[in-house]
Amino acid sequence: MAHEIPWRESTAPALPAELRAELARVWAYRQYNEAGAAKAFERLHGEWRAAGASAELVDAAAAAADEEAQHAAICGRFVELYSGGAAPEPKPFADMPRYADATVEERALFGAVLMCAISESVACVYLQTMLERAADAPIRAVHELFLAHDIRHSRLGWAYLAFDAHRSPDRVRALAERLPGMLALYRSGLGVRRPTALEHADELLAGHGALRPGESRELFDQALDNVLLPGFAEFGIPPEQLRENLRRENLRR
Ligand SMILES: [Fe+2]
Ligand SMILES: [Fe+2]
Repeated sequence: MAHEIPWRESTAPALPAELRAELARVWAYRQYNEAGAAKAFERLHGEWRAAGASAELVDAAAAAADEEAQHAAICGRFVELYSGGAAPEPKPFADMPRYADATVEERALFGAVLMCAISESVACVYLQTMLERAADAPIRAVHELFLAHDIRHSRLGWAYLAFDAHRSPDRVRALAERLPGMLALYRSGLGVRRPTALEHADELLAGHGALRPGESRELFDQALDNVLLPGFAEFGIPPEQLRENLRRENLRR
């Protein structure tokens, strides 16, 4: 819970003003993403229910939406901490793809893949990286909390795949066609922190929840090799073919 985070132990006030301004920007971007995740899980909750998922999965999607809203509020608190002022409302999140041509069951499956299996599994790699570098107690506590939640959220996606593969193996195998586009879309949307005049301070910023410039895509590629490709292989989607198709998709973007 947010109140268990040792906010008073933050070392933010001791940082130079220009680093604090950069970190306020980083946390505002993180808040925007967390608010977007809350919205996406709300939608997923409805889609899973419409597709006849078990009550356990449907309820877990609703709980995930609440946890993502909590993450957004915590990020807002960091914005205030680093900026020294009130956090502005995050701008509305860009809508996730709607897959208008898909059936109800396909839409529920695509949401599970994009929102949980891909997005949350990759988030776990980011959070683990930032947790290892945590410079102070609140940063550590928050990344532990987010990581515990996101491990659960990612498992939820893989659990939905297992559920759907059980009732419709062909639908899940047919994902092989969609996956390169989904993975490339996700990768191209990753916010890459621009190199700034603060390059000398990248290590320090990394201790406060900022990935290094360019690092989000590097970590995505690691997650692809270590988590996503082996995960989808479990569902009969050959990794080599997926990797090759993704390479082509990435070149197109
Ligand atoms: Fe989150
Ligand atoms: Fe999450």
